[in-house]
Amino acid sequence: MLNDAAETGRMQALLSQIGAGLDEFLKFEHPDALQPGRSWREHLDIALPAEGVGIDGVADELLRHVIPNGSSVPRPGFSSFITTGGTTAATLAATAAGVAAPQRYGLMAFNFLEALSLQWLADLFCLKSMQGVYSSGGSVANLLALGAARQHAFEHVGRDPAAAGVDRRVAVYASSETHHTIQRSAGVLGIGRHAVRPIACDDRGRMRVDELRRAIADDQRAGTLPMAIVANAGTTNTGAIDLLLAIGEIARDHGIWFHVDGAYGLPGILDERVAPLYRGLELADSVIVDPHKWLGASVGVAATFVRDRELLRRAFTQEPAHYLEGAVAQAGEAAPRVEHSMDDFGVPYYDYGVELSAPSRGVVVWALIREIGRAGMVQRMRRHNDMAAYIAQVAREHPNLELLQEPTLSICCFRYVSPAVADLDVLNQRLHRRLTRENQNMPSTTQVNGRLALRPCFVGARSTMAQAQALVADVLRIGAELARDAAPGR
Ligand SMILES: Cc1ncc(COP(=O)(O)O)c(C=O)c1O
Repeated sequence: MLNDAAETGRMQALLSQIGAGLDEFLKFEHPDALQPGRSWREHLDIALPAEGVGIDGVADELLRHVIPNGSSVPRPGFSSFITTGGTTAATLAATAAGVAAPQRYGLMAFNFLEALSLQWLADLFCLKSMQGVYSSGGSVANLLALGAARQHAFEHVGRDPAAAGVDRRVAVYASSETHHTIQRSAGVLGIGRHAVRPIACDDRGRMRVDELRRAIADDQRAGTLPMAIVANAGTTNTGAIDLLLAIGEIARDHGIWFHVDGAYGLPGILDERVAPLYRGLELADSVIVDPHKWLGASVGVAATFVRDRELLRRAFTQEPAHYLEGAVAQAGEAAPRVEHSMDDFGVPYYDYGVELSAPSRGVVVWALIREIGRAGMVQRMRRHNDMAAYIAQVAREHPNLELLQEPTLSICCFRYVSPAVADLDVLNQRLHRRLTRENQNMPSTTQVNGRLALRPCFVGARSTMAQAQALVADVLRIGAELARDAAPGR
């Protein structure tokens, strides 16, 4: 049976069924997928089917067994890792792209939105005159930025590292709070993970500028080539923003590439109460942001911005391929007459990164911004920052809570305390397990200055102040029960 024949004319009805299933899922009344008694696995765990069940069968299984047993991540009370469920606008756009523009190249509407939405992001986040490229997530976005940094550093000493590899030791400076994708990028780029110098942080989780200066001086004496300084605009652990201006000036004075990892925290610049902390962003040579974090895209959308995309091209360009030669105009080459969307690939995004085939991601970002505009984004960032500030305020005042770090953005690190309990790390670890099992309000944990913290990070478009309030109430309730059980003599 031709599956496309079966689908013809059925898309609307089937999507409407799946839409109804997703609406049901979004009520979040279903238990966790691993709740005892859940039997979805036995329905799904079958041997390779010789015959298909047809499109109605697939829709039915999706509705009955797959969607209701999905992830906890989209729950409004999920505040664990920096990830969320896609908003409805993102879902519509990604679905449309999957069918109507499975590739981002060609001179069609989705390709146009790729460029337009990158421009909108640059405008939104004050990255004037920077040029972007989408990739699958912060990990790859950081890799691309550091690829540009490697190209920049080696070209200055007369070598093309993309073609000839690296021939000397280099250093990348990043705070000890920097996301570990920086180390992995260094490994992938052939400069080695050990090239990343972990610079100590102050007690607010920000890179110590004096330590940065010292590390650069040490490397200069040792003849190591400084390749990049990586600053955080919102660390993963606590949301700290490094001193971008001071660090950017050091980078500029030494001619070192200045990269800002804003995968999570760049959108915070929209909240004017914290916007001054982003001063110095204008000095950056590269910046990343993940629309699939705070902007509400479904997972798979990150953006890298650089001043000169040609550097990315030299770092990542593909070798020529016979099947492409002559099929369309090549980058930089004017087509004799462009009369069809496939006469020209458009902006050669495939040369600015590590993906040839890639989904049209721009349409998702376009939909997110088109739906609520800049004003809606500002409101969301403020709401989430307010939620972290609310928890901090309660933690400062309540005798059984302790604030472990002043929040900068939408992360608040705090813990339950009780004089009856000796080991507060163990107590809070248990408390965290209970929260997860209750399946409503689910922060992660982290270490703050050697102490275990509960760490809600609010980025979900469906999360409101009600979730922050409910989390505090849950922590106080469970904490009191655990402290009672742990009291000596029980
Ligand atoms: C600051 C920062 N950079 C990079 C990443 C990696 O992003 P991704 O998980 O999208 O690959 C994260 C992930 O949380 C992050 O918080």
